[in-house]
Amino acid sequence: MTGPAVRSDTTIGDLHWWDLAEIADNDARIFGPTAWTVSYYWAVMAQSGTAMFQARTASAGDSSAAVGGQRPSDSVGQRPSDSVGELAGWIVMSASGSEADVMTIATTEAARGQGIGRSLLSAGIDWARSRGAHVVHLEVDERNESALALYRSFGFEEWGRRSDYYPGADAILMQHRLPPE
Ligand SMILES: CC(C)(COP(=O)(O)OP(=O)(O)OC[C@H]1O[C@@H](n2cnc3c(N)ncnc32)[C@H](O)[C@@H]1OP(=O)(O)O)[C@@H](O)C(=O)NCCC(=O)NCCS
Repeated sequence: MTGPAVRSDTTIGDLHWWDLAEIADNDARIFGPTAWTVSYYWAVMAQSGTAMFQARTASAGDSSAAVGGQRPSDSVGQRPSDSVGELAGWIVMSASGSEADVMTIATTEAARGQGIGRSLLSAGIDWARSRGAHVVHLEVDERNESALALYRSFGFEEWGRRSDYYPGADAILMQHRLPPE
């Protein structure tokens, strides 16, 4: 697997409840009518067996936003470093027994093509493996060439389709068997 190294000013960390409004805003911009609402994100976060990770980059000119740095404390206390900086992307995973799913993944438009999607998917797969998963599933719009290329580069393979799952397009069902470590 090749590809651009993720930017050195980017960190991947846990996604927290206080990030969800920002995530949902970005989700609406990226996914439009099929976006998850903030209440749906809350519901998924509350389920056991799910994990959410985010990528953030240091914002130019904002020393308080330096990745790894800390913002001044406010009424709710200091934010952990994984909530600081400019949002670049996120991934939501679920796992149960030996099976895991990529529930959603996105990189903000400004941050695409910089290895962030690859880093997020890698973090999601590592989490799935740590939960004992042997296979990771996902579904993707057949027209989504960038996502298909990303998934194939990780070894995901098509095993089925859902006809007309998206307006005017099939969903491709993919799985990736995790090699034993
Ligand atoms: C799919 C998506 C997550 C990729 O994120 P990204 O941060 O741009 O991806 P990366 O820079 O890490 O690229 C990793 C690989 O993805 C593929 N890829 C990314 N952008 C691509 C493009 N425009 N065309 C073709 N392949 C592309 C390539 O295989 C790339 O590897 P390479 O650089 O070695 O060629 C991003 O385009 C996105 O958020 N799209 C909108 C939301 C979406 O469709 N999510 C998936 C729903 S199933």
